[in-house]
Amino acid sequence: LTRLYSGMQPSAESLQIGNYIGALLNWKTLQQTHDAFFSIVDLHAITVAQDPAKLRLNTRRTAAQYIAAGIDPSASTLYVQSHVPAHAQLAWVLNTITGFGEASRMTQFKDKSARHGADATTVGLFAYPTLMAADILLYQTSVVPVGEDQRQHVELTRDLALRFNSRFGETFTIPEVAIVKETAKIYDLQNPTSKMSKSAESHAGVIWLLDEPGVTKKKIMRAVTDADGGVVFDRENKPGVANLLTIYSVLASQSIESLENEYAGRGYGDLKKGLVEVVLGTFDPIRERVAELIGDPAELDRVLASNAAKASDVANETLATVYDRVGFLPLR
Ligand code: TYM
Repeated sequence: LTRLYSGMQPSAESLQIGNYIGALLNWKTLQQTHDAFFSIVDLHAITVAQDPAKLRLNTRRTAAQYIAAGIDPSASTLYVQSHVPAHAQLAWVLNTITGFGEASRMTQFKDKSARHGADATTVGLFAYPTLMAADILLYQTSVVPVGEDQRQHVELTRDLALRFNSRFGETFTIPEVAIVKETAKIYDLQNPTSKMSKSAESHAGVIWLLDEPGVTKKKIMRAVTDADGGVVFDRENKPGVANLLTIYSVLASQSIESLENEYAGRGYGDLKKGLVEVVLGTFDPIRERVAELIGDPAELDRVLASNAAKASDVANETLATVYDRVGFLPLR
């Protein structure tokens, strides 16, 4: 089976609908045909300040959301990044072959450091992409399914793998990014030309998996549209409606075209009401399952521990090869 790797940050209590559509839904399908590793990347999360108690809570909650959304922790390897020390160890080695200028060109770093201000920009944030490269390369990954915002990081990962291989000998599989074009970028409902994000300044346009149904309904009914009135998919001129149609289409497994037909001559209010039903129909059972899972943290921790052991076996093998290739003295 082809090896697949992806992950998410436990940086909020709940995932948002972009994480669900852009990542989790694809993972769920791909896990059936791949040897899949899914991590909860807590080492990445602390590149911006986290409250320790909340981080612990959010890590369990993120794991619960993966499982509730359909990731099977007995078929896929679902684990917490910090449980496998090899990630930090390989990241260090990769830092030493990454150019300062190369890392400075990462757009997510530039955005985040602009948002948090120069004083809050840490070396950790700067090194975020090399840690992500370590995640992917430790598992000899072939396929990395992500949203559009992670494409540049996967490209850097490929460059680093090629560079290491040519300098020290064949060591890493060169990974390919897998991005589903139609759903690679879900937009904020209040600001339909910017990406929906867990770290958005205002949450008015962010649909959280774990929001109360009433809150979700309100947010969808208040989504920004346009004055034209027609339910037509036009990303350029009608970004709000295009975004609603994208979400609707994926969650209802119905083509955009058939939605346009269904809602032809009806207003945006009807489209939004239809979308509310589809979103709640998807999220209600997930929310219930998450509540069950986090109600038994001991069981959840046990699942995470056994998966971390599986991940460690693979990761440690790659790390040992890397340590040998770069010339570290073996510990005998
Ligand atoms: P994170 O936690 O920001 O997001 C998790 C996944 O969700 C996707 N995503 C979206 N897709 C569509 N529309 C959106 N609005 C949207 N917002 C987020 C992201 O593209 C991502 O796939 N650096 C990664 C985590 C990571 C990782 C890895 C991923 C760490 N190591 C190794 C793959 C492989 C991140 O911050 O994801």
